[in-house]
Formats: sequence, structure tokens, C-alpha cells
Amino acid sequence: MDSIIVTGNGPLKGQIPIAGAKNACLTLMPATLLSEEPLTLTNAPRLSDIATMTQLLQSLGAEVTSMQDGQVLAMSSHDLDNHVADYDIVRKMRASILVLGPMLARDGHAVVSLPGGCAIGARPVDLHLKAFEAMGAELELKDGYVHAKAPGGLKGGEVVFPFVSVGATENALMAATLAKGTTVLKNAAREPEIVDLAQCLRKMGAEIEGEGTETITVQGVDRLRGATHPVVTDRIELGTYMLAPAICGGEVECLGGRIDLVGAFCEKLDAAGISVEETANGLKVGCKNGRVRAVDVTTEPFPGFPTDLQAQMMALMCTADGTSVLEEKIFENRFMHAPELIRMGADIDVHGGTATVKGVERLKGAPVMATDLRASVSLILAGLAAEGETVVNRVYHLDRGYERVEEKLGNVGARIERVSGS
Ligand code: EPZ
Repeated sequence: MDSIIVTGNGPLKGQIPIAGAKNACLTLMPATLLSEEPLTLTNAPRLSDIATMTQLLQSLGAEVTSMQDGQVLAMSSHDLDNHVADYDIVRKMRASILVLGPMLARDGHAVVSLPGGCAIGARPVDLHLKAFEAMGAELELKDGYVHAKAPGGLKGGEVVFPFVSVGATENALMAATLAKGTTVLKNAAREPEIVDLAQCLRKMGAEIEGEGTETITVQGVDRLRGATHPVVTDRIELGTYMLAPAICGGEVECLGGRIDLVGAFCEKLDAAGISVEETANGLKVGCKNGRVRAVDVTTEPFPGFPTDLQAQMMALMCTADGTSVLEEKIFENRFMHAPELIRMGADIDVHGGTATVKGVERLKGAPVMATDLRASVSLILAGLAAEGETVVNRVYHLDRGYERVEEKLGNVGARIERVSGS
């Protein structure tokens, strides 16, 4: 297992290119199953999760060709010869459940392994399944698999989500495009990744209104055609790298960054004393003056503060001036970075879904363990500001969501290197 060694090295300076969004790509890729014609994605990120989704789609009989160093994915699912998404692949990545809606909508049947939980929580898929039932599907859970059938095809229906779910909204939206009649998704997720998916589906011939609001209306069509679509910028990678100069000083321009993708996050940066300036090429971030101020954060569905930036913000608050309270409202166990930050000298008190962080002058480098994707990168950020050397182990978590992190940070002056493990 590889490790990454970070040594506190003072202010950063330069430009970091922001890639296409992992969480958009992971729902855009299954959309190829909705059409027999080719779907090509550009600006795709080079990540292990994308390789896992590629493997899953190929196991179903789709063709996926990665070109231009992984930034272009040419896909075609003209001949789907397998409608079973196997546990061995699904257990590696929860987003695998997103092949269920498209297969069910296109061919009227699908068998997908339940994903199982993960480090940050149980993460059930009951909202996905209820949405398909509202569209007339018959579902049976057997031996850890969901057996879904819609013999006469899905029918338009009203889906009311009891609480916001990004994945359930994406699965239902994809299924609704081929359902007979009109489907209304209420209390739908509003994330930019949903908007990106809707825009791609519309290029394929889908009739969708309301994406980005809490009510999405879909008029089913008989078939969808192929398309070419650029993956939207990754707002979580963007927010992560915006925190790099915030945590160790300097000024970094995040190329491709868009302020509309990180509104609530930027409000918190402003309150903490971090400057964010829109430039012709992206967003330029720097420390206005001296020590960062402590701010409180509560995670919410978009357009609120993203749960996927909570760990990274906690790393910043560890050396802020004052005490900050971080409330994690989306997942039940998303503070596993806290004990690792405490090993670096942070003063953090976790009770249930609330973490209280008292800022300390400086963190000290230490060997730490990555536990999940965003926790991993929060430890890298903390290492940038810490005195001495931080060794982050199990960085396979990191490679799921961050392409070439040591290259991107190294190019702006960080002392960071990857050490290949056994
Ligand atoms: C997506 O996960 C993202 N993953 C997550 O990013 C992100 O943290 C999350 O949305 C919230 O924004 C991808 O897009 C691939 P949810 P998803 O359904 O769709 C519960 C990262 O780091 N729930 O919005 O799985 C669920 O347990 C990852 O890139 C149910 O109870 O999230 C959670 O507590 C981590 N039943 C809450 O809802 C369901 O059927 C929100 O989950 C579905 C969800």
C-alpha cells in the first residue's frame, strides 16, 4: 500500500488545474445503458473509481474505451448481454447502484448487488428502490441482491423523497427518461452533478424540466440517442485545493474553478478571512491577513455546505484563531479524520454528529491513517501546515477521488512525495 509523505514547507504559489467531477462522472457513465447509441464523455477525471465503474459497465456488456490519458470515455452499450451487477464490483464502490435504474428502464429487468455500508455510514438504498416501485417496478431482495422487474416497462409516477438523496435522485431521473408517461421527483437533490446529468440526458433526447430545483419533471420518451458531453468541474476537488493556501499561506489559482459551484463554502472562507477572487481562468485563493478565524459549519444538501468538504474544513479549523463547531448532518460517522488530526496535536472533541475544534498554534507532523476518501485528503492538508513530516498511510482511499495529488500540490511548492508500499 502506498503512503504519501508531506513536510510542512511554508506558503504555496502557483496554479492547480481542477479535473472533471468524480461524482458527476459516476452517474454520467451508467447513462450509456439508456441508449444503444454511443455516449462520449470529455473532461473525465483519472481516478480509480472511474476505473471501477468502467469495469462494472464492461461486465454488463457495454464497451468503454478510455482515450487521451483517461480524459475521454467513449462508451457504447449496443449489446447488453448481462444484467447482473456482481457483488465483487459493487462492494468496492456504492455508486455501482446507479446501473440499476438505467438497466431497468431500458430492458425491464436488472439484478444488482446491495452495496453494503462503508466507513462513513450504513448508506442504505431504500430511497432508490422506493422510487422504482413508484414507477411500477416489482422488486425482490434475495441473497444480498436486488431483483428488479418491469415487464411492461416503467410507468411515469410521483416520487416524493422523504429526505434529499443525491444517488436516489440520479437513479430515478435516469429511469424516468424511458418510463411511459410523466414522472415528478419531489424533494429532489439539487447538486450540480444532478444538473450536469440532466443536461447530458437532454442532449440524448430526454425531456426534463426543473433540474437544480427540488422538483424535477420528466416526460418519458421511447428511446434515447447518443451524445457527447463534458463532465462538469469537480467542486469538491476545487474546494479541497482552495483550502491548501488557506491552511499554509500563499496564493493559488484553481484553474477551471467556478464560484457558483462552491457558494456556501466560499461564504465560510470569507468569514474565516480567506480571500477568493474570480479570474479569467478560475478562482484565486489567498490568506488575507495572518491567522485564519474560526468559523462554525453545518453540512447540508446543496446549496448548503457540502459534507464532502467537512473533513477538509476541519483540518483548516485545527489551527484557526478560536473555537469552531462542525455539525455533520448527512452521514452518521464522518469524523474518522478527527482522531488522526488529534495525533498531529489538534484539539478536537467529538460528540455524536458534532465536533468542537479549538484552534492550536501549529500542528506537528505524525504518521496517520487514511480511513475514507475525504478524510485522507484532510490529513494531507493538515500535513502541509504541520511542523515536520506527516506520513499518510493507505492512500488508495485518496486515489479514488484525487488524481495525481502529489503532482498538483508539488507544482505549487508543497514538499510531498508518494512512497510505494509493499
Ligand atoms: C453522494 O452519495 C456522493 N457520492 C457522496 O460523495 C456525497 O457525500 C453524498 O452524495 C452527499 O452529497 C456520489 O455521488 C458517488 P445520498 P450518495 O444518497 O448518493 C442516506 C464522496 O466523498 N440514504 O445523498 O450515496 C445516506 O445514508 C462521496 O465523493 C438513505 O438512507 O448520498 C446518507 O446518510 C461520499 N437511503 C444520506 O441519505 C437511500 O436510499 C445522503 O445520502 C439513500 C441515501
